[in-house]
Amino acid sequence: MALNVNTPRSEPTPLVSANILGIETSCDETAAAVLTHEGKLLSSVVASQHEVHSPFGGVVPELASRRHLENIEGIVCEAMKRAHMGWHDLGAVAVTRGPGLAGALVVGVSFGKALAFALNIPWVAVHHLAGHLASIWLDQPDFPPPFVVLVVSGGHTHLYFVPHEEDYQLIGRTLDDAAGEAFDKGAKMLGLSYPGGPALERLARAGNPDAIHFPRPHLNRGGLNFSFSGLKTALLYYLRDLERKGQSCPKPDLAASYQEAIVEVLVEKSFRAVRQYKVQGLAVVGGVSANSRLRACLSTRARDLGVGLALPRMEFCTDNAAMIAVAGWRAYRLGQYGSWDMDVAPNLPASQLGALASVG
Ligand code: KG4
Ligand code: ZN
Repeated sequence: MALNVNTPRSEPTPLVSANILGIETSCDETAAAVLTHEGKLLSSVVASQHEVHSPFGGVVPELASRRHLENIEGIVCEAMKRAHMGWHDLGAVAVTRGPGLAGALVVGVSFGKALAFALNIPWVAVHHLAGHLASIWLDQPDFPPPFVVLVVSGGHTHLYFVPHEEDYQLIGRTLDDAAGEAFDKGAKMLGLSYPGGPALERLARAGNPDAIHFPRPHLNRGGLNFSFSGLKTALLYYLRDLERKGQSCPKPDLAASYQEAIVEVLVEKSFRAVRQYKVQGLAVVGGVSANSRLRACLSTRARDLGVGLALPRMEFCTDNAAMIAVAGWRAYRLGQYGSWDMDVAPNLPASQLGALASVG
């Protein structure tokens, strides 16, 4: 489908519920998705840039924005095609406004705003973390508040208490590295390629998680806050020590033990929050929620304690536009539209989730 939008319609779509196009370009995934006005997902397309950044061992911002620019039109058209929708079937365009890489965000926001303007429909500015939070509703639209949610990704490790719908209260956060960062940096030290998290998990499958006891940082202090930088340093010193003594240790054991330390802290703090806030539900979202050891430990503990657990489908753990479309769909129904002069917000604070959209 060619991107050729004709004269804007004079009648805007009724502002109750609408078919939504979601767009996500905050980091190294160019993604688009279409959701019906009833909240049913029709398509979700993700173009990963892993091969672009892999030789550099991490995301190179300039290369990311260039690749978004090359991909965005094709990815949006593909999502529309798979959804069997025409441009004028859309009632709003939801786009990640921040936080993220400035140049990468600009591509999605400019594209989404221009498309919405041409179609004479609103655009909805979505907070990236609100998108991750919304990922649970793709499969569990009725997961009921009150609950606690852990957002655990490459840039964030944040706990929120959700007493009511659209009310997100930040109750814990990492004081230094995010858990995804700990996975990525640990993977790099073990000589694994980018992205490190999934690579480390694969290696850990053949290892013994009890082989080495790495510290569980902040496990018994810091309330609901996290700290992962000490764990990364512990791995660095352990590897240096081995080298100095001329010894070796099976890499799968190193990976499994390191992963176990991260997982244990995430699980313990999440259920501590559940206890502290006296809720019966826990949701865990974001890239690291794709980790199968974490998912298994969470499931076992939730079952033992009779706590309802919401985990996104694997494809919706890491960055995607389906979650942005859902967040946008909910915000649209609350009348939260972006203004035309609203710009990207690379440093949008995690504490300012407000409702699902980012305002101001
Ligand atoms: O949510 P996401 O795609 O992007 C951000 O918003 O940051 O999360 C990416 C992070 C990366 O640090 C990646 O290594 C980690 O999620 N990740 C994993 C796994 N899959 C992705 N970490 C551990 N195990 C995995 N299977
Ligand atoms: Zn993300």
